[in-house]
Amino acid sequence: MAKQKEVAAKSNKPLSGKTAIITGAGSGIGRATALTLVRAGAAVVIQDRRKDGISKLNSDIQAQGGKALMVIGDASLPLDIDKLLEKTLKWKEGGRKYDIVVVNAGRGLAGGTLISDNSQWEEVYHLNVLGAAYLMRCTAKYLIERKKGDIVAIGSVAGRNISPFSAFYSSSKSAIGALTEGLRQEICAHGVRVSLVMPGIVASGFQKVAGFNENNFYKRIAHIGKLLEPQAIADGICWLLTQPPHVNVSEIIIRPTGMNYP
Ligand SMILES: NC(=O)c1ccc[n+]([C@@H]2O[C@H](COP(=O)([O-])OP(=O)(O)OC[C@H]3O[C@@H](n4cnc5c(N)ncnc54)[C@H](OP(=O)(O)O)[C@@H]3O)[C@@H](O)[C@H]2O)c1
Repeated sequence: MAKQKEVAAKSNKPLSGKTAIITGAGSGIGRATALTLVRAGAAVVIQDRRKDGISKLNSDIQAQGGKALMVIGDASLPLDIDKLLEKTLKWKEGGRKYDIVVVNAGRGLAGGTLISDNSQWEEVYHLNVLGAAYLMRCTAKYLIERKKGDIVAIGSVAGRNISPFSAFYSSSKSAIGALTEGLRQEICAHGVRVSLVMPGIVASGFQKVAGFNENNFYKRIAHIGKLLEPQAIADGICWLLTQPPHVNVSEIIIRPTGMNYP
C-alpha cells in the first residue's frame, strides 16, 4: 500500500514522464535547473564540457532517486550536439525521446568593443550564438514532429538592455533574444513552446570566466545588495514549464531586487 502511494505521488509530479536536456549543467544555473526539474519529476540529460561537475550532479540526482544521463561534450560544436541528441534518443530510462531543451551553456566576457579581449570574441559567439542556434534548430525539428515540447533559451537582461560591464557579451545575448522569438513564431503552430529566460546578475562561475574583477565589476555593483542564486532562475524555468500546454510564457526577466540598471 505504502509502495502504491509512493508510485502515485511520484506520477503526480508536474514533469513526470518528461525528459529534459540541459546544456552546461555542471554548475550554476544549469545545475540548479537539472536538480529542480528532477524534483518536478523529469528525467534529465546533463551535458557539460568537463566531467567533474556533471559527475557530482549525477550522484546528487541518483541520491534523490532521480534519473540522469551524463553527456560530455562541447555545446559550441555541431558534432557534439549531434552526439548529445543521438545519446538522448537511445537512453532507455529517458524513454528514448525528449520533451524539454534548456539551452543554457554560455559564457560572459568583460568589456565592450574597445576593451574586451578580442582573442575571446569567436569563442563567445561560437558558444552563445552559433552552438545555441544549432541546438535550437535540431531540437525544434524533432519537437515539431512530436507536435509538443519546450525549448527554453537562457538569454540575459544584458541582451535586452546593454550591460555597462560587458557590451560584447550583451550583443551575443541580444542575438539569442532575436533567434528565440523568431523560432517561437516559426513553430508555435505546431504546439511547441519557445521561451527566453533573461537572468539579471546571478552569483556563479560566470563572473570568473567573464574576467570580472573588483574594478571592472564588483565595485560597480556593490550597491545592488544580494545577488541572485542560480535557484531563482531554475524556479522560473520550472514554473514556465509547468503551465498548461496552451500557455507559452515566451519571456521572463528575473533580477536581483536592488538591480537598478540597465
Ligand atoms: N551568472 C549570471 O549573472 C548570468 C546572467 C545572465 C545570463 N547568464 C547565462 O546563464 C547561462 C549559465 O551561466 P551560469 O551563470 O550558470 O555560469 P556558470 O556557473 O559558469 O555555468 C556555465 C556552465 O557551462 C559550462 N560550459 C562552458 N562552456 C561550455 C561548452 N562549450 N560546452 C559545454 N558546457 C560549457 C561551464 O563549464 P566550465 O566550468 O568548464 O566553464 C559551466 O559548467 C549562460 O548562458 C549565461 O550567459 C548568466
